[in-house]
Amino acid sequence: VAPDEHWAAEIRRLAEERDATILAHNYQVGPIQDIAHHVGDSLALSRIAASADTETIVFCGVHFMAETAKILSPDKTVLIPDAEAGCSLADSITEEQLRDWRSEHPGAVVVSYVNTTAAVKALTDVCCTSSNAVDVVASIDPDREVLFLPDQFLGAHVRRETGRENMYVWAGECHVHAGINGKQLSDQAEAHPGAELFVHPECGCATSALYLAGEGAVEEDKVKILSTGGMVDAARASGSSEVLVATEIGMIHQLRKAAPEIDFLAVNENASCPYMKMITPAALLRCLTDGADAVHVDPVTAEAARGSVERMIAIGN
Ligand code: 13P
Ligand code: SF4
Repeated sequence: VAPDEHWAAEIRRLAEERDATILAHNYQVGPIQDIAHHVGDSLALSRIAASADTETIVFCGVHFMAETAKILSPDKTVLIPDAEAGCSLADSITEEQLRDWRSEHPGAVVVSYVNTTAAVKALTDVCCTSSNAVDVVASIDPDREVLFLPDQFLGAHVRRETGRENMYVWAGECHVHAGINGKQLSDQAEAHPGAELFVHPECGCATSALYLAGEGAVEEDKVKILSTGGMVDAARASGSSEVLVATEIGMIHQLRKAAPEIDFLAVNENASCPYMKMITPAALLRCLTDGADAVHVDPVTAEAARGSVERMIAIGN
């Protein structure tokens, strides 16, 4: 299936017929971002999913995102073009592991990144995304211990920003972001002096970026640790001519649209998420034609998870 104008017209027609809102994450392939009704980061898309007034939500992203939309809007039909689109980070902690960890820290507040399964969210006090993780942790009583999961690099960023010491961080990671390393970042920064650095907090190289700034290799105000939505806002506000981007490469499409005058360069051009890329133009067409794959969350789990997700969309608004 070529994502040409016939494809686009058919997608629009089918979406209208199904009364569907199409949401696309910033890491989706260009044609999917361009056809979606809304493109954004995980927090913005969760908020839109919670307030959408259509009967159906088509989530072009990975499974935990569609599941989060279903938890927030249980009466809506939530579809994902390919239910096999998982997430290596969400797979890095199971419900059993979290139960064990909680029992070692009775009384601790459990903060889970939205990149987790519904079963993990059901054992969570408050969820967060990369755009509000710092605000979420800062909102917690300083005397209570915090268990932060599952991303170790986002956890390190939150600890650095909040200065919180009574916070334990799970050692999970996203294989795509962990693969963007400090050497690639410093080589690119050296090759492009004067460029700004936009770094996603899931990156293994976020610490290296701050180290480069600390060493004076990059001006301190040029290093920005941002969610994908934060990168789009920063691009619009940036006066730079060149920006190095450390995150999944789908991001570059939305950045170029937001600020066509800036030269955006991926720190690692191979940082492509195989799960995000399972959502192809053909898969979206099939999804709208057949009404599949429908996302189901067991109602008891959804009920237990809903509070933590609602707290997430309320914080940092
Ligand atoms: P954002 O919340 O910054 O969009 O990041 C989500 C993510 O990493 C999905 O892989
Ligand atoms: Fe998960 Fe990483 Fe892919 Fe994001 S980029 S969906 S965290 S595997």
